[in-house]
Amino acid sequence: MDNFLKTSKIEKCLSGEIVIPPDKSISHRSLIIGSIVSKYTQKKIRIKNLSLGKDCVATLEILKNIGVEFEKIADREIMLDATKAFKNPVQPLDCGNSGTTVRLLSGLFSSFEGFTCKFIGDDSLQKRPMARIIKPLSLMGARITSNQNKLPLSIEGKKLNSITYFSPIASAQVKSAVIFAGLNASGCTKVIEPVLSRNHTEIMLKYFGANIKTGKDDEGFWTSIEKSEFIPNDVEIVGDISSAAFFMVAAAIVPESKVLIKNVGINPTRTGILDVFKQANVKYSILAERIISGEKVADIEVCYTQNIKPFSINGDIIPRLIDEIPILAVLASVADGESVVEDALDLRNKESDRIKAIVEGMKAFGVDIKEKEDGFIIVGKKEIDKTAKLETYLDHRLAMSYYVLSLINKKDTIINGFSCHETSFPEFLKLMDKLRYS
Ligand code: S3P
Repeated sequence: MDNFLKTSKIEKCLSGEIVIPPDKSISHRSLIIGSIVSKYTQKKIRIKNLSLGKDCVATLEILKNIGVEFEKIADREIMLDATKAFKNPVQPLDCGNSGTTVRLLSGLFSSFEGFTCKFIGDDSLQKRPMARIIKPLSLMGARITSNQNKLPLSIEGKKLNSITYFSPIASAQVKSAVIFAGLNASGCTKVIEPVLSRNHTEIMLKYFGANIKTGKDDEGFWTSIEKSEFIPNDVEIVGDISSAAFFMVAAAIVPESKVLIKNVGINPTRTGILDVFKQANVKYSILAERIISGEKVADIEVCYTQNIKPFSINGDIIPRLIDEIPILAVLASVADGESVVEDALDLRNKESDRIKAIVEGMKAFGVDIKEKEDGFIIVGKKEIDKTAKLETYLDHRLAMSYYVLSLINKKDTIINGFSCHETSFPEFLKLMDKLRYS
């Protein structure tokens, strides 16, 4: 077995406080939007608290390849200089495991006339659908060739037209790809989505002074973008609620635990997990709310909850917790009854087929779970007591979710491919150990 982690039940409880590392989605956007603003204003942009997970490093390396310069100022703090960018890359651009990197950058690069590049990625990324961005970008006049709508993706930058695009899915990656293309297209580009997906692109573009508007009408949630002037601000990234989620659920299920998680982004498009906590009766408090670079942030305290209630997740909440479904499956596995996840078909298109993988993983822990086309049904149990062997399928969120359930498994847990957690959260084990052994 290659790169596996063997872990066993926690001896005490989880206690103490941690500062959660920077948000992955916002970090990607700071690098991309920072580069656009730096090029436009001919000024350097300072980014504080940047994620150093492999996904964000992939975006940074690609930007380096096309002439953006980065100077390290302090820990997780950089100065970005795109004044001499964007040059044609000489080699293929490696997005690794990161769907956000390829989808967002495809939008931007498609709009650079004369720019050519080829995106490649790892085994997981090569299986993921790209038609969702190829379609709207092609309607704008982009030239993208692919391997049957999968990677590798080759882009030939063109002068783009504005469009009004009704996105059939609520996807921030699709929305952002069109917005980035629209920034450099003629006229006003509009994206309309059925449910509001995470809106970090919109918030950051507004923060840098762009000509972006958002609203809601009968047709859905719309965003419009035009060619813009920018203000060269410093930007600071808030902590990642999707990373915090592992500690939030761990504190809720490990007896006697009490954990304070500091600096967690609580943008309402990301806080579906807190709504589920309310349904499940998990004890938590939101403290010290504040705003950093346009994003809402707070400290979250979570305590062990003896009688976790079962819950239902479906409909409009899905985009607000799409990345938290693996760790919510862990919460459901100890709830007192039947929990149901529905309307989450797009989980099959994430870093792995997350529905299939979660069903397989929960079964390995001896949990009663049934697969549905668009989700699953879990009947929680009082005790997890089974030697569990898990496969991560290059999916970081599965790796960390299984680790959390192993904390209460009376038998050993073996997680194959655990190191993939580094794509979003290289500090995961260090922070877990801090709470475990304090
Ligand atoms: C992301 C958007 C979500 C999410 C992904 C990150 C982003 O994907 O699952 O982890 O940063 O825009 P979709 O927009 O495709 O739902």
